[in-house]
Amino acid sequence: MKRELSKAAAMRSTYAITSVLLFLVAPVFGQIPDTFSNLKVLPADISKQELVSTMRSFAMGLGVRCEFCHVGEPGQPLSSFDFASDEKSAKQTARTMMEMVQQINSGYLSKISGHSASLQVSCVTCHRKQSKPSMLENIIAVTAEEVSTEAAIQKYRDLREKYYGGFSYDFSDGVLNDAAQILLETKNYEGAIALLKLNLEFYPENVASYYFLGEAYATDGNKELAIQNFERVLSLQPNNRRAKNRIEALKQ
Ligand code: HEC
Ligand code: HEC
Repeated sequence: MKRELSKAAAMRSTYAITSVLLFLVAPVFGQIPDTFSNLKVLPADISKQELVSTMRSFAMGLGVRCEFCHVGEPGQPLSSFDFASDEKSAKQTARTMMEMVQQINSGYLSKISGHSASLQVSCVTCHRKQSKPSMLENIIAVTAEEVSTEAAIQKYRDLREKYYGGFSYDFSDGVLNDAAQILLETKNYEGAIALLKLNLEFYPENVASYYFLGEAYATDGNKELAIQNFERVLSLQPNNRRAKNRIEALKQ
């Protein structure tokens, strides 16, 4: 592969992290080899400092440790790692990702008129500290479909406990409603209703949750509970026309 200076510069701006972070990893710096034998994407003349800073940004971006991509035992000194080995498929995927990120930044974004060089895509842009970047609503809906409603509820609670306040997952008030919508599309009323109730546990005044509960009960043939939930919408939003219409229609 051709290695030009401009490529090295692009790499630098894509992956560079502050020297403060390098200072933090100083104790392990000495355990990492000084020369590299199997670089296929990074420039061959990359300095050790830059390589380590790039690797740190990969690990932080994906919320993983070095052994996610490299052969080595967790908890063991990095000097025992075989960093040059391509044995782990994650390392090979990472190379594809590096090329993809380069293409996005220098191939596509740079074509946009008025593009600012400070607006670059990097691993963390998509990964948000997850190795497989998934949206919370999809994780919850897929767990409900493939495992069970209870498992989906537990998954939400566990993720919320662990990640709330971070940026890996969006815990704002609309996400469980979105997951419920996905389940409604597959006619999984029981699952959708459970997720909407879960949302109300965290966001008791969520109008959309009550509205979707009304819809879910109505479609599932439970008129009484449907009306009750549309009435909750009206108690929170007295002028909500859609809820009014739904109640009128259900009462006929
Ligand atoms: C997400 C995957 C990933 C993570 C996590 C990761 N690396 Fe890497 N690493 C790579 C890839 C891919 C290459 C090869 C880059 C290339 O081909 O240009 C590489 C190459 C290296 C090399 C050069 C090996 C050689 O001789 O060619 C070293 C040293 C290294 N990584 C150290 C680390 C350290 C230390 C960590 C933890 C802080 C780490 N890596 C975390 C993917 C990763
Ligand atoms: C445009 C969004 C995007 C960017 C930017 C991105 N990734 Fe990914 N990455 C994904 C998606 C989506 C997947 C899941 C692909 C799949 O499983 O089919 C993924 C999967 C991976 C995996 C496999 C994880 C596993 O559990 O097997 C690795 C490793 C990885 N990415 C590394 C990186 C690295 C390193 C960077 C930065 C150089 C990066 N990614 C940048 C979207 C992105």
